[in-house]
Amino acid sequence: MESSKSEKLWGGRFEGGTAASVEAFTESISYDSRLYRYDIAGSKAHATMLADNGLLSKEELTAITEGLTTIESKIDAGDFPFKSELEDIHMNIEKALIDAIGPAGAKLHSARSRNDQIALDFRMYLRDQCDIFVVLLDDLRRAFVSLARKYMGNVMPGYTHMQRAQPVLISHHMMAYFEMFGRDRERIIDCRKRINISPLGAAAMAGTGLPIDREMVAELLGFDKVTANSMDTSGDRDFAIEFTSCCTMIQLHLSRLSEELVLWSSQEFSFVQIADKFCTGSSIMPQKKNPDIPELIRGKSGRVVGSLMSLITLMKGLPMTYNRDMQEDKEPVFDAVDTVSASMAIMAEMLGNLDFNTERMAECTQTGFMTATDLADYLVLHNVPFREAHGIVGRAVATCIEKGCELTDLTLAEIKEFSPIIDKDIFEVLSVEGSVNSRISTGGTSTQRVEEAVSAAEKQMGIGE
Ligand code: ARG
Repeated sequence: MESSKSEKLWGGRFEGGTAASVEAFTESISYDSRLYRYDIAGSKAHATMLADNGLLSKEELTAITEGLTTIESKIDAGDFPFKSELEDIHMNIEKALIDAIGPAGAKLHSARSRNDQIALDFRMYLRDQCDIFVVLLDDLRRAFVSLARKYMGNVMPGYTHMQRAQPVLISHHMMAYFEMFGRDRERIIDCRKRINISPLGAAAMAGTGLPIDREMVAELLGFDKVTANSMDTSGDRDFAIEFTSCCTMIQLHLSRLSEELVLWSSQEFSFVQIADKFCTGSSIMPQKKNPDIPELIRGKSGRVVGSLMSLITLMKGLPMTYNRDMQEDKEPVFDAVDTVSASMAIMAEMLGNLDFNTERMAECTQTGFMTATDLADYLVLHNVPFREAHGIVGRAVATCIEKGCELTDLTLAEIKEFSPIIDKDIFEVLSVEGSVNSRISTGGTSTQRVEEAVSAAEKQMGIGE
């Protein structure tokens, strides 16, 4: 089975058609059709520039522009026959244009190659995704600020090594995620700067001898500038790798949060209640309510990491400049975009449907010697060297473990046995509230600091205005 060579826009030097198996193996239209809007916008700008430089007549430009608009509406309406024998989005659209308007359509590809054309489409697509990601990240960040406001003043155990460490405010924990996703937002905005550079005019890889105006095309399409080296332009996919690496970081943060939500919704923790509509049941165990959403988000991080690995591996051995291998860059990026944006959206929605079991969380701060560091700090403030203080508190904790009690259960006389410096004001120091509110260092968990952080975030996010 062969298809006729006449369909192919590059058929000139070929004797016969292409094997059906080869067409099936090499096509990318099944997934790069997603880029049609960008391909059409790019072609319109390119044609405008060609006309401006005497390479197209006014009439030809009008025919091309109108022809492309018609094609776009057909694709919008799902009424466009994408053909795998035409390989990719570029040739599907160009062939349809030539069929519709004749010779003018055949002039469109002057001073252009699919190599700079795909770089253009991909950059325009990713530029839009960056803007969408910023919106989704802000929705997510707003959800953390709302939770931080709602639970202001409530305490929970903070952990290191998954062992109870020191009491913190629930709001402080929420604001930690606000910071993480804030960095992700900055990374995306920074990545966009390197995406938003126009590759068009690099042509196949050496540039073109035809009189073109790259800056004009860049301006028409909203790019900040044009790329500096035509070979780099046709061979570069750093921008896609960088974007996918930003995706990976976001998904990684979502996955860590998901892990906490899975743990916290277990009976062992019983820290949170995820609304019924965000959980599912078991087909065999009637009592089950499973945290599927966070589990799936955690699971999907494997795909996103996989996409990043695919891209890195794809590019690592490629000589300059364009190689067909690079067609394999699209699917991992598309999958990362779909996975991460869906995960961000559903996480933000679920956070709005989360109830913390504040009593249980507070109760968990009462055991486990969570204010032992405060006793050590108390001694330090009374001029005991920290290492010595550490030893004193360690012995006090060991005694409590033996007695089966907490530090706060000791009498003043008992506690004084460990150090005569200790006085009755120690009980305030050892209280959970006293401990939390003593941590007034910048970025600390005291109500004062966390209130400041939440207020600043509310202002930044335009909440309560
Ligand atoms: N479909 C191709 C890709 O995604 C477009 C560029 C093809 N260029 C070429 N010379 N075959 O990379």
